[in-house]
Amino acid sequence: MNNTKKINYMVSPGGYVRGEARVPGDKSISHRSIMLGSLAEGTTRVSGFLEAEDCLATMQAFRAMGVDIAGPDAGNVTIRGVGMHGLQPPRDALYLGNSGTSMRLLSGLLAGQRFDVTLTGDASLTRRPMKRVTEPLRLMGAEIETSETGTAPLKIHGGAGLQGMHYDMPMASAQVKSCLLLAGLYAQGITSVSEPAPTRDHTERMLAGFGYAVQREGNKICLSSGGHLTATSIDVPGDISSAAFFMVGASIAADSDLTICHVGINPTRTGVIDILRLMGADIALLNERVVGGEPVADIRVRSAALKGIVIPEHLVPLAIDEFPVLFVAAACAEGETRLSGAEELRVKESDRIQVMADGLQILGIDAQPTPDGMVIHPGVIHGGEVDSRGDHRIAMAFTMAALRASGPVVVRDCENVNTSFPGFVDLTRSFGQVLVVEGAEP
Ligand code: S3P
Repeated sequence: MNNTKKINYMVSPGGYVRGEARVPGDKSISHRSIMLGSLAEGTTRVSGFLEAEDCLATMQAFRAMGVDIAGPDAGNVTIRGVGMHGLQPPRDALYLGNSGTSMRLLSGLLAGQRFDVTLTGDASLTRRPMKRVTEPLRLMGAEIETSETGTAPLKIHGGAGLQGMHYDMPMASAQVKSCLLLAGLYAQGITSVSEPAPTRDHTERMLAGFGYAVQREGNKICLSSGGHLTATSIDVPGDISSAAFFMVGASIAADSDLTICHVGINPTRTGVIDILRLMGADIALLNERVVGGEPVADIRVRSAALKGIVIPEHLVPLAIDEFPVLFVAAACAEGETRLSGAEELRVKESDRIQVMADGLQILGIDAQPTPDGMVIHPGVIHGGEVDSRGDHRIAMAFTMAALRASGPVVVRDCENVNTSFPGFVDLTRSFGQVLVVEGAEP
């Protein structure tokens, strides 16, 4: 966190993606395991936890609020839950680094506590929109101060006494939904949220796994306060959002055959598989099984001739984190690809529409940004130097673009890859790509 040292990837052109391996644990599930494990009664054991900066920020925040958390040790974490009302006031502001999930989910969970707390983060996080959570939380009675433009730091005043309510979410956001459900654990009566399109449902699944009743009626999710969470064990599957880079890499690079083992395939996360299949990708799901309430499979991907498509809008929230690398797939396909209905991409860790369009253009691709998406005409990818603007997923997406480039691709500002994918460089190399890291500690 708070990286000052700039890291660049110098990626050699061409190559293939071959092998069999796991990717690190799911980021969304790892965050939630710490949050719910901390509020539970008893000891929660987590395996496969994502030891990346974002999830470590959540872990650190709960330690600062008095929770005894051991690990992570090779993905194992032990959380001694303090119960629904056992969190202690932290001494300082909680620093959440680059992690939007930590800030948005914690704002809901902490709005219902008896103590004051301030949430802050890095330059990217303190620019991101927080009104989407602070406004509905205020409607529930929360007292939260923000900057004039509604961004962090968020100063949350305790003891506000929340009221349950129904909220129609204006955007499809699992972070907003989860924030309000976590606030609902502490609000009087019933809290319900309707989503305009399905979004990832890990919060609902995990609450149920901790024994907390959550109802879903159509697009509405509903819970009552006053219950408690019972500690459990959580086996975190591999993150499909991390697997996605190599799924695209293996699709676009000749002579590729890759199996990524034990990946979460929760249907609210598999838009990337649907979109790649529509583009003609060769993807097989093997050994499908359910692990701790989440569906899991091994994913085999082989090289394929991709074609451009109009991306169905209903798949957008189900692949929201995968568009940087899907744009790279589109650049390597035959025919135009069009994305619309994805304005949320403009408020991620970077403006992912603009930053990807800029980088693809530098590499010689006709990529035209629109307010809510992009139009991409594929072509020959040249070598060149692109800037990830500190966005982990953009850094990894352009690393994959090198597989089809005619010259070396230099990706600037890659230190934040550690926010979601520790070990990315080693895994990339083990699959066959040649990549030098400039600026890394010796
Ligand atoms: C997340 C939800 C998504 C996603 C983010 C993680 C979560 O954000 O982009 O990386 O864990 O709930 P939105 O729900 O705001 O789109």
